[in-house]
Order: sequence, then C-alpha cells, then structure tokens
Amino acid sequence: MKFSAALLTSAALALSVQAHFTLDYPEARGEFDEDNEGKFCGGQTTIGDREPFPLQDGLIEIDSHHPSFTGTVFLSNSTNPTSFDDFVQILPWFKLEGAGTFCLPLDLASTNASVSDGQNVTIQFVYDGGDSPLYQCADLQLARQFTVNVNCTNSTSSSTSQGSGDAAFALGAPFYALAGLLVGGFALLA
Ligand SMILES: *[C@@H]1O[C@H](CO)[C@@H](O)[C@H](O)[C@H]1NC(C)=O
Ligand SMILES: *[C@@H]1O[C@H](CO)[C@@H](O)[C@H](O)[C@H]1NC(C)=O
Ligand SMILES: *[C@@H]1O[C@H](CO)[C@@H](O)[C@H](O)[C@H]1NC(C)=O
Ligand SMILES: *[C@@H]1O[C@H](CO)[C@@H](O)[C@H](O)[C@H]1NC(C)=O
Ligand SMILES: *[C@@H]1O[C@H](CO)[C@@H](O)[C@H](O)[C@H]1NC(C)=O
Repeated sequence: MKFSAALLTSAALALSVQAHFTLDYPEARGEFDEDNEGKFCGGQTTIGDREPFPLQDGLIEIDSHHPSFTGTVFLSNSTNPTSFDDFVQILPWFKLEGAGTFCLPLDLASTNASVSDGQNVTIQFVYDGGDSPLYQCADLQLARQFTVNVNCTNSTSSSTSQGSGDAAFALGAPFYALAGLLVGGFALLA
C-alpha cells in the first residue's frame, strides 16, 4: 500500500515538473531549466553561442505539452539583452491547437523588425498554454545565405483559423482577447 502510494506521488510529481514547452530550433540558450521557465529567457540570462539563422525563410521548432497554446516572438538587437525591455514584439499573437512538435515559419525579413544580413539578434519565444507565459531565448547571427537544415514537421494536424494582418504565419482568430491579457502580463514582467 505504502509503496504504491509513493509511486503514485512520484508519478504526480514527475508530471507536475514536466516542461510545458521547449524551443528546439533554433537551439535555446543554456540548459533547459524547468524551475525558471516563467522567467526572462527561461532563467538563462547569459548570452549563448550565436547560431546562424536565415534572414528570410527561417523556422522555429517547438515542442508543446499543452493541448493548445498561444505564442509570439520577440526580438532584441542588443548585443547582450538582459531584460524584457530589450525586446520588441515582431509577430502578432497566434493560437495553435494540439500538443507535440510544431514547425513554424519565421521570415524575419517580412516582420517589422529592422534586421539585416550579418546582424546579431536574440529571439525570445513566448508561450502560454493557459496558465502563465513561459520564455525561451536563442542567440542568432542572421545570414542571408543560410538555409535551415533541420527535419521539422508538425506532429499534430493542428488547426488554425486565418486572421487578417501581416503575420509571418497563420493567425488564430479567438486569441485577441487573451493576447491583450498576455501582452499586459508581459509588460508587467518587463
Ligand atoms: C534596435 O531595435 C530598436 C527597437 O528596440 C530600434 O529602435 C533600433 O533602430 C534598432 N537598431 C538597429 C541597429 O537595428
Ligand atoms: C510589430 O509587429 C508586432 C506584431 O504584429 C506588433 O505587436 C508590434 O506592435 C509592431 N511594432 C511596431 C513598432 O510597429
Ligand atoms: C505547422 O503548423 C503551422 C500552424 O498551422 C503552420 O503555419 C506551419 O506551416 C506548419 N508547418 C509545416 C512544416 O507544415
Ligand atoms: C556577431 O557575433 C559574432 C559572434 O559572437 C561576432 O564574431 C561578430 O563580430 C558579431 N557581429 C556584429 C555585426 O556585431
Ligand atoms: C532529413 O530527413 C531526410 C529523409 O529522411 C534525410 O535524408 C536527411 O538526412 C535528414 N536531414 C537531417 C538534417 O536530419
């Protein structure tokens, strides 16, 4: 009896500390730290090695562990961004359904970020699975000639409704109310 109760407890604990999302491409800065997912850059405040990333036709791969989420991307052109103030939002909030791997196009040149060939930037992916926003950063050096070489597919047949606007990728319609809330939360944290 005692043994199975202990087993159940540890199973519950294992579930509760499970990562809500990871940024798998580009490679996230530092070791993933589940205790600090909700902090600036997921708790990784030290700049990491810069990875080449395409100016155009890039992509982001994340692993999502919630049944649905809202997300967006922030970008900093600071050589060493240390707070939310160093970042600006470059994509509208979007909502996606389904858990698992998501392969999301990110065409930086078509966003409102002023980016150029050779520039060093940091992106911060903001993820909200319904509880509170989580953050992961990646330090990049932009290259016009660079082509992403990862096999990245959506593991679920995710549904998303098309919105209006200049999104670099598809928008979900029902997220606007929540987006306001999240942006508010982001500003509060900044
Ligand atoms: C860096 O980003 C800021 C906005 O955060 C912008 O005003 C500035 O023009 C950018 N600088 C360069 C060199 O792109
Ligand atoms: C850039 O685009 C994002 C997403 O649409 C938007 O939230 C942000 O306000 C825009 N920034 C500027 C300076 O226009
Ligand atoms: C994955 O799903 C998103 C959202 O529907 C879509 O924008 C993207 O193009 C898909 N990626 C691939 C590689 O099919
Ligand atoms: C970008 O970062 C790389 C690696 O840290 C460095 O060698 C390069 O000089 C930087 N480029 C610019 C334009 O600051
Ligand atoms: C991607 O998948 C294809 C087909 O399975 C394989 O030939 C290729 O080597 C893979 N590329 C990478 C970067 O893993």
